[in-house]
Formats: sequence, C-alpha cells, structure tokens
Amino acid sequence: MASLSLSEMVTFSPNKNIPIHRWFYYREGYSKAFVEWALKTYQLDGPVLDPFCGVGTTLLTCKENNVQAYGCDVSPLARFVAQTKTRNYELEELQKEFSEIKKMEFTFPREGRVESWVSKRFNAQTFRELLHMKNFVEHEMKKSPLHGIALLALIDSTLRASNVERMGASLRRSTSKGYKPIKKFWLQKMDFMLKDLKKSEMTGPEPEIFEDDARVLRHFANESVSSIITSPPYLNKIEYASAYKLELALFFEEPKTQLRSFVGENVKEREVESDLPIVDAYMHDMDKCLKQMYRVLTNEGKAVINVAGGAFPDRIVKSDEMLIEHAIEYGFEVEDNIVARTIDAYQRHSGFMGKVNERVFVLVKK
Ligand SMILES: C[S@@+](CC[C@H](N)C(=O)[O-])C[C@H]1O[C@@H](n2cnc3c(N)ncnc32)[C@H](O)[C@@H]1O
Repeated sequence: MASLSLSEMVTFSPNKNIPIHRWFYYREGYSKAFVEWALKTYQLDGPVLDPFCGVGTTLLTCKENNVQAYGCDVSPLARFVAQTKTRNYELEELQKEFSEIKKMEFTFPREGRVESWVSKRFNAQTFRELLHMKNFVEHEMKKSPLHGIALLALIDSTLRASNVERMGASLRRSTSKGYKPIKKFWLQKMDFMLKDLKKSEMTGPEPEIFEDDARVLRHFANESVSSIITSPPYLNKIEYASAYKLELALFFEEPKTQLRSFVGENVKEREVESDLPIVDAYMHDMDKCLKQMYRVLTNEGKAVINVAGGAFPDRIVKSDEMLIEHAIEYGFEVEDNIVARTIDAYQRHSGFMGKVNERVFVLVKK
C-alpha cells in the first residue's frame, strides 16, 4: 500500500483487494490507504469523526488501527454497509451457522409476477427467487448472528443477478439478460466474506454509526471529537439515489428514502440571484457542515477533507478553493492543501475548458 500515490488513494479502487473493505463497491468512497496516510501524516488523535461516512472506510480503518471512530450518513444503504463491515464477530459462530444454511433446500415459487420498474430489471424467475431469499434473510434469519452478513451478501448479489449494470451515477442494460442463480451468488459472497473475516484481526473498538445529517450533527456535543477525516459530496454531485436505486428500492423502502446528494438539495426552494444556483445552494449547505465540524472539534483538532471542484457545461467552479476560504472565515487555520489529482474538463463544442482539481486540505481549529 505504501507505494500508492495520493491520486490513487483518494479513489475506492485500492479497497478492491483489501479484506472487508471490498464487501461492497462504493464508487464515491476513498481508500483505506488514504485514511492511514491521513492518520499518520497529520498525527491525528481519536476519537475520529466522519460526518459523511459512506460505507465506512474511515471507520473500518480507524478500527483496524485501534482508534475510536464515529460516523454518520444520510443513506440507509451506506450506513448498513458501514455497520456490517465494522462489527466485531464471533467467527466460529458464523461458520457454524453458515454450514447449516449451505445444507438447506430452498423451494422457490415457479410462478407469480409483480410488475414494477424493479421486477423489469430481472429475469422473471431470478426475481421470484430474489424475493424469496430476501424474505428468508429478513425474517427467518432475523435473530441469527449471520443476519447482517447474509443481508449484505444478498444486497451485493442483487445487481449481479439483474439485467442492468452501474454506469457512473445511473443504471444501464447489461448484455446478459437470462436467468441468474441468486442463491449461488449469495452463498459465494457469504463464503468470501467469512474468509475475509478469518484473514483480518478485528480487535479494535467498534465505531458508532448514526443516522444524522452533516449539516446538523445532532448526535455530537461541542468539542467531542479530536479529528475529522471525510469526503463530502462534490459539487458535480453524484445522484446517490439513482446509482443505488435498485438496492434502495428492494431493501430500504425507497419511497421513504428521499436520497439525493443532500448537500445543495434546496436549490429550487431558495431564492438565489446567481446564474448557477446549484453553486450557491451547495456552498450554503457546505457552510453549515463546516460550522458543525468546527463546533464538534476540540481546540487544535484537525479536519482532513478530500473534495473536488465542479465542471459545468460552460464553466469550471472552484468550489474546493471556495470551501477553504469559507473555512478560514469560520476560524480554521489551513495546515496543508494538496492537489491530489487534476481532471481536464471539455466543452462539447469548443474543446478544452480547464482543469478541475481534486484536493486534500487539512484544517486546524484555532
Ligand atoms: C463522497 S461519499 C463518502 C464516501 C466515504 N468516504 C467512503 O469511503 O465510503 C459522500 C457521502 O455523503 C453522504 N451524504 C450526502 N449528504 C449528506 C449529509 N447532508 N449528511 C450526511 N451524509 C451525507 C452520501 O450518502 C455519501 O455516502
């Protein structure tokens, strides 16, 4: 891991080879290496907070490094994944339970059809089997020590069993449309996860994960954390709800989950003068987040933040630099400010428009 560059570390890709971190691919996340780099380079003390914790990269890495951590996220899917990845488990108990489950015969219904946008993303028989498995995991396994792992394995197998694939922030039809054996995928994934647990030493403190909004942080008292490591949504926000809408609809009752970026969401309601109101709304919400970070940090506490600017069809907005300026206004000092990578932005007709920076900056509460 030591040989990774910062531009690689700020992506989720390196996690693909790391036990437990690889249980659910989250394109919006960064890597374990990034969190370890931040802890070491800036000599961060615990407790550490990640107010946009996603699938728990900060939290799991802190646990692996024996550092107490807290996290929150507005996405129930992200929180569930983070929770399942960071729990302490009794491996023997899980293995025993798993060998019982492997022996079980499932009798899947052969007919019955619910027409919805979700069912259309699957072969009819695959969908019947998926609903049957979901019912089994959610109800029959409710009290099992393997419940979280079994549910995450099923959620993760859902896209694989469907006839769509994730493309950036949306879903597109995949080339393979036939029947997919969801039970086989599910068992394979659980087997893989248990092997990962065996490879890892899970001795550190379990993090606490809250349903909270980074603009409010109602679960956190003033001066309650020593450090923050985080990555907020970027200005060119990924529509988290569209990228994960299949999983959210099936497992998290999507209508109740009004999940967008949750930063800059009030763009329509707010009366803004700007000709690009999303920028105004984004900065307005990020200001709230910065104020909350300042409030919950102890004096001299540090926040390591990974964020990029935004590219629009006609311009580049350096929201990353704007954030640093606002942080200074709220009383932070800037200890470090590094460009992790630069992305060229192009206009459809007139070509190269400029560069968007993804950066890492370190704020100190004074
Ligand atoms: C860039 S991702 C962070 C990913 C994380 N670093 C990881 O490795 O998994 C940003 C996260 O912020 C969450 N989010 C968006 N708006 C939020 C808000 N207002 N409060 C808390 N979380 C929010 C999204 O659900 C998403 O998981």
